[in-house]
Amino acid sequence: AEEALVVFTPSGKRGSFPVGTPVLDAARQLGVDIDSVCGGRGICGRCQVTPSVGDFPKFKMKSKAEHLSEAGAKEARYREKRGMKDDRRLSCSTTIQGDIVVDVPADSQVHKQVVRKRAEVRNIEIDPVVRLHYIEVEEPDMHKPTGDMERVKEALKDQWDIEVTRADLPVMQKLQKALRDGEWKITAAVRYDGELVYVWPGFHGKSYGLAVDVGSTTMSVHLTDLQTGEVVSSVGAMNPQIRFGEDLMSRVSYVMMNPGGEQEMMKAVRETLNFLAGQAATEAGIDLTDILEMVLVGNPIMHHLILGINPVELGWAPFALATNGSVTVWASELDVSVNPGARAYFLPCVAGHVGADAASVVLAEGPQYRDEVTLVVDVGTNAEIVLGNKERLLACSSPTGPALEGAQISSGQRAAAGAIERVRIDPETLEPRFRVIGAGSWSDEEMFEQETARTGVTGICGSGIIEVLAEMFLAGILSADGIIDGSMAAKTDRIVPEGRTFSYILHRGEPEIRVTQADVRAIQLAKGALYAGAQLLVDRLGKPVERVVLAGAFGSHIDAKYAMVLGLIPDCKLDMVASVGNAAGTGARIALLNRGARYEIEKLVAEIEKIETAVEAKFQDHFVESMAFPHKTAPYPNLKE
Ligand code: FES
Repeated sequence: AEEALVVFTPSGKRGSFPVGTPVLDAARQLGVDIDSVCGGRGICGRCQVTPSVGDFPKFKMKSKAEHLSEAGAKEARYREKRGMKDDRRLSCSTTIQGDIVVDVPADSQVHKQVVRKRAEVRNIEIDPVVRLHYIEVEEPDMHKPTGDMERVKEALKDQWDIEVTRADLPVMQKLQKALRDGEWKITAAVRYDGELVYVWPGFHGKSYGLAVDVGSTTMSVHLTDLQTGEVVSSVGAMNPQIRFGEDLMSRVSYVMMNPGGEQEMMKAVRETLNFLAGQAATEAGIDLTDILEMVLVGNPIMHHLILGINPVELGWAPFALATNGSVTVWASELDVSVNPGARAYFLPCVAGHVGADAASVVLAEGPQYRDEVTLVVDVGTNAEIVLGNKERLLACSSPTGPALEGAQISSGQRAAAGAIERVRIDPETLEPRFRVIGAGSWSDEEMFEQETARTGVTGICGSGIIEVLAEMFLAGILSADGIIDGSMAAKTDRIVPEGRTFSYILHRGEPEIRVTQADVRAIQLAKGALYAGAQLLVDRLGKPVERVVLAGAFGSHIDAKYAMVLGLIPDCKLDMVASVGNAAGTGARIALLNRGARYEIEKLVAEIEKIETAVEAKFQDHFVESMAFPHKTAPYPNLKE
């Protein structure tokens, strides 16, 4: 038979095929990556390609008989029913007629990449644990008495080369009706290990997953399309366990004092998780049964409490986890009503104080791929700290307390509307200007309004308190030891006595926002702990920090310069400090979309060297030294610009 040369781009794979060969078949033979859910039946539309040099003959319908006989009819039907760009063709329904160059666009590749916004982070290759496969199943026959399930297994084997290894009750309950409703055509969701997760009648093209970040204060859920990697909705809520204790240790104490308290907290957090799953699905307009997988991250105590494991062992040395490995359970075991076959995967914990959230941040930020020594800090009630590069990674956690998140500060609040988040103090007049979250857009000029002009100020958030202290320090109101200088009261009526110490009035409205001496102390303790933890890791690694990554809600608001003025982070070039926002959530999304990433982080976590700050004698020395602004002894050459 006559042969033609076919070249696929961007892979560059090429070969000669007999004229009349379907393009998808040629691609399969050459190992070109083209997606398909329907197995070449012209239903799913995933196999689209674009001829770039040469062309395929367009199908023209002449008669009904021809319509049924020609492969191209499938494409014409698809185009008519679902619509497709003019230059696109279905590779399963288009045949090779002459020499041709065929482009496989990114959205038609199975292993497509999700391009991430920041240039320095790697892209995610989509390779989820669950995939959809459309099959045509043989009808039952009196003479061949096999069960419906057996014929489904046979179809998956024949049409997709998939060996079904497991199918649970919910699938068996669905199967017979699905087969008959779909007229012996169904779509099967199958896990990578051969488990038949779910079936839908006919063609079903949607599959989603939930990336869940269980923080001790807030919980967030990102509903993600498992086929495109797109986040289709994000929702969040306060962690309802707050009513049992503000911070982690008080929740552990609650369990110690109230036997069975872990069950109450488990129920509370699971209810909220289930509510958020429902909300995310409603917002995206999808069915809960289309959610086939979940990935969860959280600190060790959240990890235990959501799984219903008593966390008391994490309350005292040696802080033993029930398990530090990854955990896979049914989503239904966590009382989350998504697809009955959905699993929930928890990333591994690094250590008793360094959780799956830290593992997730590492997965998202990838310090293990870099030459520069990177310090990754996730600030929450505990700071989880990772230091290292591609040779070696170390981790610890440090008891910063919640001050950096605006708690334990007299006028502190979470970073939400009404919170002062940026502050400037005129070094001459000592008058402040500030910016408030939710105050609308502003030009650079107007960025900082005179404080008198502003109403609706409700408090100050973590980044605001950092900036105001740094500005007070730069203006000479605050000494390096952290004392608010009362003699400045002669220069400004904003410095007022309060007991035996002094306060600075930042905002005179209602409520009045003051920075008190106790606020300064709380931040000194927090930043001292943070720096001391980082310093312990630097000591152990024997190399200075070259790059800093600030993760978490706090990290995303903080200005690197001010963090350095106060000595919150070690000295390094300012342009080497990055705020990455909710990196733990990003890591969860990566683990949701890429199966290999799970193995990667499981292996890496086992190799990370854990340092326990509580037993390191030098921690206390570092802590005392780092209470000063910016630090008692450490030089900050990069600050002197
Ligand atoms: Fe499904 Fe071509 S493979 S439409």
